[in-house]
Amino acid sequence: MNLLSQKISFYDFKPELENFRDAVIKGLSRGQKQIPPKFFYDETGSQLFEAILEQPEYYIPNVERDLLQTYADEIGRLIEPGSVLIEPGSGSCEKVQLLLESLHPSAYVPMDISREFLKQSACSLSQKYPWLPIYPACLDFTQQMILPHGIPHGRRVVFIPGSSLGNFDPLEVQHFLTGIHRITGKGGGLLVGLDRKKDPSVLNAAYNDAAGISAEFNLNLLTRINNELGGNFDLDRFEHRAYYNDQRGRIEMHLVSSEDHDVRVSDQDFRFIKGEYIHTENSYKYSPDEFITLANSSGFRLLKIWSDDKHLFSIYFLEAS
Ligand code: TRP
Repeated sequence: MNLLSQKISFYDFKPELENFRDAVIKGLSRGQKQIPPKFFYDETGSQLFEAILEQPEYYIPNVERDLLQTYADEIGRLIEPGSVLIEPGSGSCEKVQLLLESLHPSAYVPMDISREFLKQSACSLSQKYPWLPIYPACLDFTQQMILPHGIPHGRRVVFIPGSSLGNFDPLEVQHFLTGIHRITGKGGGLLVGLDRKKDPSVLNAAYNDAAGISAEFNLNLLTRINNELGGNFDLDRFEHRAYYNDQRGRIEMHLVSSEDHDVRVSDQDFRFIKGEYIHTENSYKYSPDEFITLANSSGFRLLKIWSDDKHLFSIYFLEAS
């Protein structure tokens, strides 16, 4: 433990970054090459991601912000003051600020894999909310769903905004929610913001912003491999592709090779043929019925759902039963 200020207790669960090499080698060795999306988030990746959130085509942040602002008091009444608010993948800790005044939690536990980013976000949050005890936890929440020691008692409520749950496949969501149920215990809360199925042209535009930030974000994964694993990816030979797969109900992100060539990573060679791609991320889109069924099967029951007029996005409040 490392005390940054009176109100911040930083916990480093040391997410195993040496796994990066194993994951990349394993992922590139598969018939369908793939790399897990959690590796997007090095320093540059986390910064590019924040820039994606400001692109006009990427509607999610604005719609979600409006919903959180409009219903903050109602959400606050449902959650009760004094709860412990836990946010896996907290990033810049931007969204939670829309709720803090109405919720008045007894503690906030931001969790993120990006260590320095987590520290900085927690520090600036602490300056804005000096009354709030913060317990940042550096961990990989896809691997370890654990809480720091010493957090106050109070109803545990997990906050997952930004459609982050959509980046898991449905089976993983079930597994993840079961893990959340374990840490909240019966009666705990779950506040989730999740993108909905809609006109594919709207979805395709959102993940292909005109400024090219999504492309830069996707390609940064290759830069990271080059820097950290001694790779020699030529970024001019790969292209960002994102499109809505209607059958699977998800946006798929790919890095497509524009020609036949070999790439070397950590002393191993990988052959790419023209048009072959690395599958880097999915973003599943749920109708409310689909998500509620999934949540029910993981032990949560719906208490309330809020949606915008255009049915672009929904926020769900569920209780661990
Ligand atoms: N989870 C959000 C989504 O799926 C944000 C996100 C994750 C994202 N990776 C992304 C947005 C890549 C654009 C590109 O929409």
